[in-house]
Amino acid sequence: MSKLKIGIIGCGGIANDKHMPSMAKQPDVELVAFCDLILERAEKAASQYGVAGAKVYTDYRQLLEDKSIDAVHVLTPNVSHCEISCAAMEAGKHVMCEKPMAANVEDAQKMMDTAKRTGKLLTIGYQYRLMDTHFTMKRYCDAGYLGEIYYAEANAIRRRGVPTWGVFTDKSKQGGGPLIDIATHALDLTLWMMDNYEPKSVTGVTFEKLGKYLGPDEQGNTMGVWDPEKYEVEDSAFGFVVMKNGALINVKSSWALNIVDNGGMVRLCGTKGGLDSSMEGVRLNQVILGKQTITNIETVSPFGRVHPRNQVMNPNDAEATHWVNALKGRGELFVKPEQAFVVTKILDAIYKSAASGKTIYFD
Ligand SMILES: NC(=O)c1ccc[n+]([C@@H]2O[C@H](COP(=O)([O-])OP(=O)(O)OC[C@H]3O[C@@H](n4cnc5c(N)ncnc54)[C@H](O)[C@@H]3O)[C@@H](O)[C@H]2O)c1
Repeated sequence: MSKLKIGIIGCGGIANDKHMPSMAKQPDVELVAFCDLILERAEKAASQYGVAGAKVYTDYRQLLEDKSIDAVHVLTPNVSHCEISCAAMEAGKHVMCEKPMAANVEDAQKMMDTAKRTGKLLTIGYQYRLMDTHFTMKRYCDAGYLGEIYYAEANAIRRRGVPTWGVFTDKSKQGGGPLIDIATHALDLTLWMMDNYEPKSVTGVTFEKLGKYLGPDEQGNTMGVWDPEKYEVEDSAFGFVVMKNGALINVKSSWALNIVDNGGMVRLCGTKGGLDSSMEGVRLNQVILGKQTITNIETVSPFGRVHPRNQVMNPNDAEATHWVNALKGRGELFVKPEQAFVVTKILDAIYKSAASGKTIYFD
């Protein structure tokens, strides 16, 4: 069977940490083209992960002219996701785009429309779903252990964790700070576990209290020193999302906040029980025979192995396997564009609500 030909657009952090190593392990795949604005990055990627004779580019439009390429991975800063993904689908390529789907809801809508019109597959890199803890929580939700889930927390809190590489603090290239960068994962997980993609209204608040003001000696950042003069995005953001069925999701995010505990990424409360994730694993809380109980549950990996807590299959490899299966017609997309669209719709509304001081109502 012929191998899938894959092009990589953006050969920076996430390309090297996730996409290239995991796709290179796939038996049905050849990485044939690499593009980055910085030529040396594309060349280095091609020599490390490419087939013999792999092409390198600095302009993604030239890469898209290669008719032999089946799919591309769009791994550039957020604001360019829509332009590059749509151009790729128009050129006949399937697209794996990094999270968030887009910098705003209009761009996300355009990406969904283009996927539908061209018939190309479009998926988004929400690999956190494939961590054993989160995959297990989803299994418990689907099996009905929680009953009706009516309150949830999508939690992406860092006391100090400002990304200092790339363009993460540049609003024109990323569209925002921790909300669009890390709450996007937490909210994707929460909606997926609740299996509820119908928001009714959103109220949001963002803060710019630390990023612009803390000098190098005051930062205590875990990811290097940032330049306050180039810090253009929020340092924390919060949203109240009311769903059409009355459920509430409390979205919390920060790169810098004077708080001690980070907490796990998702907390779910239902009529029959609750679930939360933490570094310790997954906890299920219930009342059994009139007694409040907390059970540390064994986690299950996405490909069926049962084991206590420790990660067995790397979520990045699992994401690549799902993606290649979908490309080969061996299964559905694991992250559907309509799901990622709702994540972007809610995050966009939190920003709009914060800017206007008003609640945003959908429909
Ligand atoms: N799924 C995850 O957990 C995860 C983690 C980190 C980053 N990301 C996402 O990945 C994307 C990239 O983040 P990163 O950390 O790799 O950033 P990065 O700055 O390390 O890498 C981005 C690369 O894209 C290149 N680039 C920029 N514009 C380009 C263009 N028009 N054409 C070709 N190349 C271009 C840059 O030169 C750079 O090498 C972001 O959208 C980010 O949100 C996802």
